[in-house]
Amino acid sequence: MTLKGKVAVVTGGNSGIGKAVVLALAEQGASIVIDYIADERATEDLEQQVRDLGDQVIGVEADVSKVEDLERLVAKAVDAFGRLDVMVNNAGVETRTSVLDTTEEQYAKVLDINLKSAFFGTQLAAKQMIAQGGGGRIINMTSVHEDWPMPGNTAYCLSKGGMRMLTRTAGVELAPHDILVVGVGPGAVDTPINKATVADPAQLSKLDAAIPIGRLAQPEEIASVVAFLAGAGASYLTATTIFADGGLMHSSPGL
Ligand code: BGC
Repeated sequence: MTLKGKVAVVTGGNSGIGKAVVLALAEQGASIVIDYIADERATEDLEQQVRDLGDQVIGVEADVSKVEDLERLVAKAVDAFGRLDVMVNNAGVETRTSVLDTTEEQYAKVLDINLKSAFFGTQLAAKQMIAQGGGGRIINMTSVHEDWPMPGNTAYCLSKGGMRMLTRTAGVELAPHDILVVGVGPGAVDTPINKATVADPAQLSKLDAAIPIGRLAQPEEIASVVAFLAGAGASYLTATTIFADGGLMHSSPGL
């Protein structure tokens, strides 16, 4: 129980990687704030799972692409549990559109949900952590695509590239406050964002073949990295990204 007495907010916390992160942090004893935008039922089920682990939890419906909603989210965490120790900027979407066909609306949606939310989530969490004292952890869910092009998913790559520099720059700026900022860069994970690929056997075997470990990750294999980064063992990590990608970024056909 390395996170007993700590309070964690997870954006996009009721599905996919976010849901696994909620459970991994709860397993370490943290009090949890689940941010969600849709599916109240799924949030209530997850809240129950957290309570079954013996931890306190609240769900907050907030659209993290809006700063006022993020402010309300952080305020609710502090109202409920008195502080904020771990902010996981996890909410994310993709449009699978190329530089040639991405619309202004798609661009804004992806950049706002992925990058703007992480920027202001970092800002608001850091202000609270500085006010309460004692430091904190900010964990940004990026992707291998913070650094590795994904043709046909341009806006998503841009947003993750922005999160890479947010992590590095904010990590440097906030280090004097003992607030550590680290990115987690998953490869392909078996979550709703990859539903179409997983449902198509040809696509799935192409993807599996590109991954040195030979398979997609389960969300729990990403969440365990977040739990480590939130804990005492990660006290010297900041302004960098931990890639959990099964070797994907370094795979090579050996030509
Ligand atoms: C994207 C997926 C993609 C995976 C591996 C993730 O960040 O969301 O669409 O399959 O990276 O390329």
